[in-house]
Formats: sequence, C-alpha cells, structure tokens
Amino acid sequence: MILKSILILGLLISITFGYSCKEVKQKLGNLVTSCEDNKYKNASKLYINYQDLTEIPKFVYKITSLTFLNLYDNKLTEIPSDIEKLKNLETLDVSRNMLTKISPEIGNLEHLLTLQLNNNTLTTISSDICQLKNLNFLDLSNNVVTSIPPEIKNLQSLNKLYLFNNKISTIASTIGDLKNLLYLLLYNNEITEIPNSIGNITNLEQLYLQSNVLSTIPSEIANLKNLIFLDFSDNRIKEVPAEIGNLENLIYLGIDKNCIDTLPAEIQKINHSEYNYGNKCEAARRCGGVFGSCPSGKCCSKHGYCGVSDAHCAASNGCQSEFGTCKCGEDYGMCSDGLCCSKKGYCGKTKSYCYSSNGCQSNYGSCKCGENYGLCSDGQCCSKKGYCGRTKAYCASSSGCQSNYGSCKCGESYGTCSDNKCCSNKGYCGTTSAYCSINKCQNKYGFCPDI
Ligand SMILES: *[C@@H]1O[C@H](CO)[C@@H](O)[C@H](O)[C@H]1NC(C)=O
Ligand SMILES: *[C@@H]1O[C@H](CO)[C@@H](O)[C@H](O)[C@H]1NC(C)=O
Ligand SMILES: *[C@@H]1O[C@H](CO)[C@@H](O)[C@H](O)[C@H]1NC(C)=O
Ligand SMILES: *[C@@H]1O[C@H](CO)[C@@H](O)[C@H](O)[C@H]1NC(C)=O
Repeated sequence: MILKSILILGLLISITFGYSCKEVKQKLGNLVTSCEDNKYKNASKLYINYQDLTEIPKFVYKITSLTFLNLYDNKLTEIPSDIEKLKNLETLDVSRNMLTKISPEIGNLEHLLTLQLNNNTLTTISSDICQLKNLNFLDLSNNVVTSIPPEIKNLQSLNKLYLFNNKISTIASTIGDLKNLLYLLLYNNEITEIPNSIGNITNLEQLYLQSNVLSTIPSEIANLKNLIFLDFSDNRIKEVPAEIGNLENLIYLGIDKNCIDTLPAEIQKINHSEYNYGNKCEAARRCGGVFGSCPSGKCCSKHGYCGVSDAHCAASNGCQSEFGTCKCGEDYGMCSDGLCCSKKGYCGKTKSYCYSSNGCQSNYGSCKCGENYGLCSDGQCCSKKGYCGRTKAYCASSSGCQSNYGSCKCGESYGTCSDNKCCSNKGYCGTTSAYCSINKCQNKYGFCPDI
C-alpha cells in the first residue's frame, strides 16, 4: 500500500513537476548564459547564447515550462521538429546562427509572439511560419529570402515584419491583409513592384522601402492615414503620387536618390529629403537627341548619359553642352560649339561666362572683349568684332585689332598700330619703352615719340 502510494506520487511528480533553473544548470552546465524561474520555480526564461552550439541539446526540449528561449549567436543549422515540445514558448530567438532549415513543427507553437530568425541564411518564409496566428513580431532581416509568399496573410496578429537586407524581388498582394501591421521594413532588397493592396494596411505607421529597384509608387499608399515614416529613397522612381501629400501624420518622407525631376506642390510642403539623382537613375538616365537635356546641374556625356563625374562633365571628354552642364579649364579642356569658359570653369554663352571682365578664360573657349566686355586674358588679342584669339584675324592691326583690350601685332604683314601705340621691333603694339624707345620703335607701323 505505502509502496503503491509512493509509486503513484513519484509518477505524479515526474509528470507535473518541471525543471528549475538550478536543475537546468546542472544538466547543461556552462552552456547556460542566463536562466530565470517563474513563480512556481520552473525555468521560464533560458539563454544559451555565444556558445558555438551546432545542435540544440536534447534536454532543452524537456524544459516545457519555457516561455522564452534565446539561442542568439551559435552555429545552429536547423530548428528540429522537437521544438514543438516547447509548447509554452512565447519568444524564440535563433538570430545570428547558420540556419538553412526550419522544421514544419514550428507552426505548432501556438503561443509564439516573437520569432527572431534574423542573421541566418534562410531563403523562404515558410507556410509553417505563416501558421503562427498569434505572432506579433517576425524578424527575418539579414537572410537571403527571395519572396513574400501569399500565405503571409495568415499572420493576422503581426505588428512588426522585418525583412530588410534580403533578396526579395516579389511581394504577394495578400500582404494587404495584414490588418494589424504597424512596421513593415523592406529596405535593401530587390523589389521591383509594391502591390496596390498595400493601401489596405491601414494601421501601418512605418514603411521602409529604400534601396530597392522600384520604378513606381502605388498611389494607394495615400490611404495609409497612420503613416509616420515613409522612405523610398534609392530606387528608380520617376513620379511621386501627389496624394501622398495628404498624409497628415507623416513626419518624414525619404525620396532622395531616385529619378524625380519635379515634385508635386503637395509633396513639397511635407518634410522630405532632397531629391538628388541616385546611381541607379544616373545609369538609366539618357540625354541628347530624342532624350533631351539632363536635369539641372547634370552633364550629358559624349555617349548620351547624364551624370556628374569627369567622364560626363569634362569638355575634353566630349561633354555635350547643348544638353547639360560642361566643365572647362586646365583639367577639363576647351568648351565646344563656340561657348565661353567662365572664371569658375563652366561652359556657357551668357555675360557671366563670356565677358573678359568677368574672368572669361580665353584659353578654354570663346571670350568677348572691348569697351563693354573688358581685356582678353592670357596675352590674347581682341579682334575688331570684340572676341579674344591668337590668330592673325584677331591680332593684325590691319584687321582692326583693338590694342586697348588685348595684344595686337604690327609690321609688314600686320599693319599699323591703332590708338597712337608704338610698334616694337618684335612686331607688337604698346606704350612702354620696350615698344617706344628709339632703338625699338618702328615708325613705319606706329607712333614713335622720339622720332
Ligand atoms: C511548473 O510548476 C507548477 C507548480 O509547481 C506545476 O504545477 C507545473 O506543472 C509546472 N509546469 C511545467 C510546464 O512543468
Ligand atoms: C546582422 O547582420 C548585419 C549585417 O552583417 C549586422 O550589421 C548586424 O549587426 C547583425 N545583427 C545581429 C543582431 O547580429
Ligand atoms: C485591398 O486592395 C485591393 C487593391 O487595391 C482592393 O482591390 C481590395 O478591395 C482591397 N481589399 C480590402 C478588403 O480593402
Ligand atoms: C523631418 O524629418 C527628419 C528625419 O526623420 C526629422 O529628424 C525631423 O525632425 C523632421 N522635421 C520635422 C519638422 O518634422
């Protein structure tokens, strides 16, 4: 009788009693980085991290009182089917491991709220994971996931979905069914299109889509009235739907590094990043001929691409000034098409580029000279018509060279200096003793004060 009672009691103990942290530590030794009991003295929180573990120790599956298991930073390649035994789990963190496989039984952890699988080498969001109806937070960032499957819609309790730094190219339209989603982090993937159904996730507060390859933004995003942060910088977007300007709660809109030429006035009024061109866009952005001009500040290369590098901008590389900005000067060469090289080294044809008095560089393009335009630089001659140059047409006094605004030549084939200047024995017009002294001055081709 007594023996029988002890037997039954023993049986009861082994069924109902769990393991305390003390017992867990006895079994797992140094593997345990931290353990916490619940109020019944059963282990409820267990950390086995930074341990180089390649397999989850079998004993762990016996600690069924666990609600929290952290296996961060080990060398696990798999979450085995035994995981379903930990039926009270609410948080499972297996981030920073080498996971390639997760057993379908993970789908049976019906109390799971948080699942962290980031920093592994997983390629899919399995339909089993999608069965976790109570899951609030799924972190699959820093993996190699290639798509968001239709089953994602089953994660009806999801608040936070982190999928950044993956290889996602397609998104199932059922993502729009995630009514409780607040944070959707999809940056740094290969996404080409956002389904219009995104506009159904009306609770969404933060949507990060930067560094993908999107060429459009669905106007349905304007339905997301609770959005606070919206970022789609570094894509290939050409137009921003004006309706986005009506999102009253938006405190930041990231739109830089896209292909946007003009921003609707409605968008201008919200707090947005600058909309400079990005690399992806520059590569795609053509100019010249039917493509027309580059956006302001960009250069059109010889081969018809917009950009800002020397290959695009240097006049010596064939920069097409007709379709954009071009650089000139010592390092960039001479402006084409008769354009002027400004003091600051840009090709153009207005006053600030061409007037010698504004620093026009006559060695790297056309320059205007004369009474209203100033003196040619670099020892060049000012022609009758008021342009700087070095050839006979500019320099010959007989052709009307203006000696008050540059050098002029004189002598048998260049004629007589104008404006009462002296013609030196070297054949240049001037007023100093180098031109006018009795042993240098040629009185046949100019004024000589001492003769
Ligand atoms: C934890 O402890 C309580 C009370 O001692 C017990 O009834 C329960 O079955 C234990 N839970 C587990 C999961 O072992
Ligand atoms: C995950 O990997 C990324 C990229 O290698 C790294 O920057 C990040 O710190 C890692 N996160 C964790 C939690 O280990
Ligand atoms: C979700 O979005 C799609 C596409 O915009 C739309 O056709 C559908 O009616 C929406 N569903 C709900 C339930 O709002
Ligand atoms: C604009 O957005 C930036 C970036 O998020 C933020 O730091 C700043 O506070 C915002 N400004 C306003 C006026 O909301």
